[in-house]
Amino acid sequence: MTALTLSTSAAPNLRADAIVIGVAKAAKGPVVAPGAEAVDAAYDGKLAGVLETLGASGAEGEVTKLPAPAGFKTPLLVAVGLGAAPEKDGEFDAEALRRAAGAAARALTGTKKAGFALPLADSGDAGAIAEGALLGAYSFDAYKENGKNAKNGKAPLAEIALLGGKPRDKAQKAAVERAVAVAEELNRARDLINMPPNDLDPEAFAAIAQTAGKEHGLKVQVLDEKALVKGGYGGILGVGAGSAAAPRLVKLSYTSAKAKKHLALVGKGITYDSGGISLKPAGHNETMKCDMSGAAAVFAAVVAVARLGLEVNVTAWLALAENMPSGSATRPGDVLRMYSGKTVEVLNTDAEGRLVLADALWAASAEKPDAIVDVATLTGAMVLALGNRTFGVMANDDAFRSAVVEAAEEVGEESWPMPLPEHLRKGMDSPVADIANMGERMGGGLVAGLFLREFVGEGITWAHIDIAGPAFNEAAPFGYTPKGGTGSAVRTLVRVAELTASGDLG
Ligand code: BES
Ligand code: MN
Ligand code: ZN
Repeated sequence: MTALTLSTSAAPNLRADAIVIGVAKAAKGPVVAPGAEAVDAAYDGKLAGVLETLGASGAEGEVTKLPAPAGFKTPLLVAVGLGAAPEKDGEFDAEALRRAAGAAARALTGTKKAGFALPLADSGDAGAIAEGALLGAYSFDAYKENGKNAKNGKAPLAEIALLGGKPRDKAQKAAVERAVAVAEELNRARDLINMPPNDLDPEAFAAIAQTAGKEHGLKVQVLDEKALVKGGYGGILGVGAGSAAAPRLVKLSYTSAKAKKHLALVGKGITYDSGGISLKPAGHNETMKCDMSGAAAVFAAVVAVARLGLEVNVTAWLALAENMPSGSATRPGDVLRMYSGKTVEVLNTDAEGRLVLADALWAASAEKPDAIVDVATLTGAMVLALGNRTFGVMANDDAFRSAVVEAAEEVGEESWPMPLPEHLRKGMDSPVADIANMGERMGGGLVAGLFLREFVGEGITWAHIDIAGPAFNEAAPFGYTPKGGTGSAVRTLVRVAELTASGDLG
């Protein structure tokens, strides 16, 4: 795990392997960003020209490496692009800083210690840079020889000093502490998503949740297959029926003595989605270990909330199952009796996420929380609609949906509000059961949302986040986002919990 500190050192005096500075894009060419004054001075104020000569423009994510000036105690200078320079007297937005810090941390893989001399206009900037750097430094090496990245044989950046920091400034210190807690837990979610499904089955996931939950003072309850049968969790059992690895429902409760509100989080935790009897074809199953990203997100979020000691009660529900075909698997045509008592005709066993979520939503509803937010890699349709970087947000309450979208925007996650059109409900009418698990193909992401809505308790405010697009990055890394599991929705959930705690939401 990368260590991060606020440092009062000036760039020329820091003993490290590299200094990171920011460069922004202006009409006249690249400009050196605030925070790098001492570095620029060492170039007689001509650093922007030097960078331009080297081909730098200040474009977002661009990385330019050059030797540090004489007299510095670091050999390397890394100029990272911040994108467009703010208008006169304006400041860089938090997401630009987060992304630049992330790109710089990635570029420094194989380096031990770096000083980041980026703009620190306020405590929010310090938090954003810390978060971006820690997320960008992430690398999943557990299965590599020597725990190192095979591509370049290098370990991730080990130590980060935020230069120009004020360790005695309470707001700055708090912002950095928050960033560290959130980034560390988000990286834990990434680890879970990246773990191969032969090692992370429902039982293994539940065991990890139990250990980590207890470590952070959460109450953890695990329903194993016997308890699920006893309780009548037909959705979770039906999805897990084909697998040699039995399903689990995990409940993690964080309680604060000062809480006025209760927020429930529900996560889809399909540790592998083969599609079941409605088997996915080759080309569609290679990344389906990521189908537990929702459960990983709500797990990471509740642990982060506990570490931050937020004044709100948060309960996280992880609906864990492996969706496999076998002689004991649920068939298309089977009818499941769900935990809510409703019956569901399973027309497509690959529409399994809504089945496990339905049971967990109903279980969460029984506690009458002020709001429920579920997170799921639920539909390919949402990926077609919004692409690979944006999650869709649906809700049974327009104001709550807007609040979730705004919370996402605040923390730098791309999202978009999606509707739940009533006319799509009748497509799920079943001749034999209360509802079918599939409806019209068009608007498939919204159909899934409408299905879930049926399993939310009367009068409870609920939002559904479909992260099928952004959960897993198959393309090249960018900003603070690595290849593989991204930890999508974790930061939004933590923000929603903060807003709930402060009474600004829910
Ligand atoms: N886990 C998939 C959705 C998914 C697709 C996640 C791509 C990540 C990337 C889900 O269980 C699924 O298979 N959904 C089906 C539903 C359909 C059968 C109604 C889909 O979207 O095709
Ligand atoms: Mn599926
Ligand atoms: Zn799935």
